[in-house]
Amino acid sequence: MRPLKPNIFFVGAIDWDRRMFDELIPLPDGTSYNSYLIKGSQKVALIDTLDPSRVDTLMGNLVSLGVDHIDYIISHHAEQDHSGSIGELLILYPKAKVVTNPKCRDMLIDLLHLEADQFQTVEDGQTLSLGDKTLKFVYTPWVHWPETMCSYLEEDRILFSCDFFGSHLATSSLFVDDEPGTLQGAKRYYAEIMMPFRNQIQKNLDKLSADSIDMIAPSHGPVYPRPALIMDAYRDWVSDRVKNEVMVAYVSMHDSTRRMVEHLVTELMDKGVGVKQFNLASVDIGKLAISTVDAATIVIGSPTVLVGPHPAAAYAALLINALRPKTRFVSVVGSFGWAGKMVDQFKGLMANLKAEFVEPVVAKGHPRDEDYHNLDALATRIYDLHKQAGLT
Ligand code: FEO
Repeated sequence: MRPLKPNIFFVGAIDWDRRMFDELIPLPDGTSYNSYLIKGSQKVALIDTLDPSRVDTLMGNLVSLGVDHIDYIISHHAEQDHSGSIGELLILYPKAKVVTNPKCRDMLIDLLHLEADQFQTVEDGQTLSLGDKTLKFVYTPWVHWPETMCSYLEEDRILFSCDFFGSHLATSSLFVDDEPGTLQGAKRYYAEIMMPFRNQIQKNLDKLSADSIDMIAPSHGPVYPRPALIMDAYRDWVSDRVKNEVMVAYVSMHDSTRRMVEHLVTELMDKGVGVKQFNLASVDIGKLAISTVDAATIVIGSPTVLVGPHPAAAYAALLINALRPKTRFVSVVGSFGWAGKMVDQFKGLMANLKAEFVEPVVAKGHPRDEDYHNLDALATRIYDLHKQAGLT
């Protein structure tokens, strides 16, 4: 088993083949479920378990290390890709106590049907001695469930952060060896999972800065031997800073919307505005989500189906609404045949966004000269808004 430091081992599993998470999130690079074993001079602690589909790997790793007892199973987060093997671990190590906060305990009882007497709860800031090593628990709520917390191994200055700072990356490298590639994976993870909780994450980052951290060991993806890499990236992502970029997500049935989108995008590019364009008929929603982390503006393109948005565009709007990016401006372009309430429905679908709604452009049938002029005006308006915001 691979050690992070003496007596601290990775005992998790790499899932090279998984392609979807929660039947929602694409995993183009697989993922890993990271468990860590800490052998203190007096006590042994397991940091999180892993997805139930990989419990055999965890068991095998513990057997390989000769682990004949575990005193504490630290549970940072109740979601089953980290907690789902706790029940089987408790069968193998029946004297182990599940150490977590009261909220996580209650969730684990609901989700896994564990018994209350199998737990030992800890308060925010409380420590747990393993002999020559000491774990300090730090409540970090809403990364990305209400009960989430981290633990800090004081003597080795390792932060075990669970989902926080994670990335869905399957890699044979225990430690980050490709910083740009890892950051891209981590940004995808942030966009899809953490972004709705930007304000809480800012508070958690401030809280964690109280400790001197030499290494961050998340529950997905490689370990960060240089914590500033991911902490600085998170500080940027959760800040209010946006870029001179427009994310355009569209779908087209009979080419009207496509023509309008391509005209708008060309106008924006000619004005020096960056664009990320996605066809919703074949999009990787992870890439779409990543582009919303920094984009100052989002434009949805859709034809009218019956009287509302195309379902693919409605799905994109619903997803963006759920992810709550810090986008400042939103608009819609598209077409209709005989009638429609598409624009009003999009406004309703994206009601969470604290963004200014910019006058949309909706053509009847194929766009005419007037529609193209309106698209030029929309591009100019977006450019002007970006300029007023100091982005150009
Ligand atoms: Fe990796 Fe929220 O579970």
